[in-house]
Amino acid sequence: MKLWGGRFREAENRLMEDFNSSFPFDMRLWEEDINGSLAHAAMLGKQNIIPPEEAELICETLRQMKEDIEKGDLVLSGLAEDAEDIHTFVEAELTRRIGDVGKKLHTGRSRNDQVAVDMRMYARRQAEETRELVLQLAEMLQQKGRENHPVLMPGYTHLQRAQVVTFAYYMDAYRQMFLRDAKRLENSRELMNESPLGCGALAGTTHQLDRGQTAEALGFNKPADNFLDGVSDRDYLIELCSDFSLIMMHLSRLSEELILWSSQEFRFVTIGDGYATGSSIMPQKKNPDACELIRGKTGRVYGSLMGLLTVMKGLPMAYDKDMQEDKQGFFDAVDTVKSCLEIMREVIRTMTVNAEVMKKSVRQGFLNATEVADFLVARGVPFRDAHGIVGRIVIACEDKGCAIEDLSLEELQTFSPAFDDSIYEYLDYQNILNKGIKKEILL
Ligand code: ARG
Repeated sequence: MKLWGGRFREAENRLMEDFNSSFPFDMRLWEEDINGSLAHAAMLGKQNIIPPEEAELICETLRQMKEDIEKGDLVLSGLAEDAEDIHTFVEAELTRRIGDVGKKLHTGRSRNDQVAVDMRMYARRQAEETRELVLQLAEMLQQKGRENHPVLMPGYTHLQRAQVVTFAYYMDAYRQMFLRDAKRLENSRELMNESPLGCGALAGTTHQLDRGQTAEALGFNKPADNFLDGVSDRDYLIELCSDFSLIMMHLSRLSEELILWSSQEFRFVTIGDGYATGSSIMPQKKNPDACELIRGKTGRVYGSLMGLLTVMKGLPMAYDKDMQEDKQGFFDAVDTVKSCLEIMREVIRTMTVNAEVMKKSVRQGFLNATEVADFLVARGVPFRDAHGIVGRIVIACEDKGCAIEDLSLEELQTFSPAFDDSIYEYLDYQNILNKGIKKEILL
């Protein structure tokens, strides 16, 4: 018999039953569902809406069920008819254990506020766990930079060698992105932390529930202000998917760099054997699959964000069954982003930085050209003229196949009389980073 079977004359069609069931994917909410029910039952008892000793029996049994699920004694499965979703499963099992008293749990509650509070608690926990992984990655980037300090490397714009930086500084740029991501998750967590429990189906209940008590018991800052909004709000899932999408975008950019850097063309880094794979035909191949997979999975997470936005678009208030479609996309997004963060942390931990190759690349490509212009500026040459002079020096060096520092002072002076002996010390790549605000790069 369905929870809601009373007003029906005919049984639900089997095809419809499968189509309607969310149990195969919402069973992962079991802990949140039981915790929500524990808070609700305790409050019902305290408010004398059900006899306190019955509330106590319900709570004891729910706690026992939690233990049994953890131990594997109670398995999350069942026929679709008694497990339309995780809420039905928990209530049916409770009633199987304690009979009619179990049927009192749902007093003053709807599955609409129940699923809303479950999802919020689940999303909150996932936001916290994801934030922790983001911070671990940020820390790993810093550690890898420190281990390899001060390794010089080319910085790029347009993927053309531009100016010298350090490997640690490059890693720090990614660290900054992930620190912002951590902050975003923290902000989202704060904004979502209001309890929808007690909002009922859409308009509260005639029972004197204590929403403050359940909100506090479940770790929320306060109960939702509006019943309609409480059951129908899924903003927090969309916001988290947006946070996840940004994390994936950052991971994807980092992946792309590592794919390039580990190629024969760059050879800046060597990916650890544990995080690369080989080819079934080409014996020499070592492929950066971990990074490629992260780059590829980014699309999945963006897809979840678009999916959720589209599910919610145009939905009238309050609850609509469309909202059941909030789950798989969100679950997939959170699973994906967490595994990618973990893998990237390990890829960074196990990769080798080829300092000599990076250093050699710094010496090819006129990465000190801007500083030669700065030198002339310090001697009174207007910057625009200095830019032109150095441009001509670069052409001459290209023709000779040498670097600017390989030219003699006499040669340099043919381009500008402002050059003197101190130019060589000035344009040394390491020294460049000790000048002006570039000192920040070395910190
Ligand atoms: N499985 C449903 C969901 O995920 C639970 C809420 C059901 N509510 C309802 N009125 N049928 O959205």
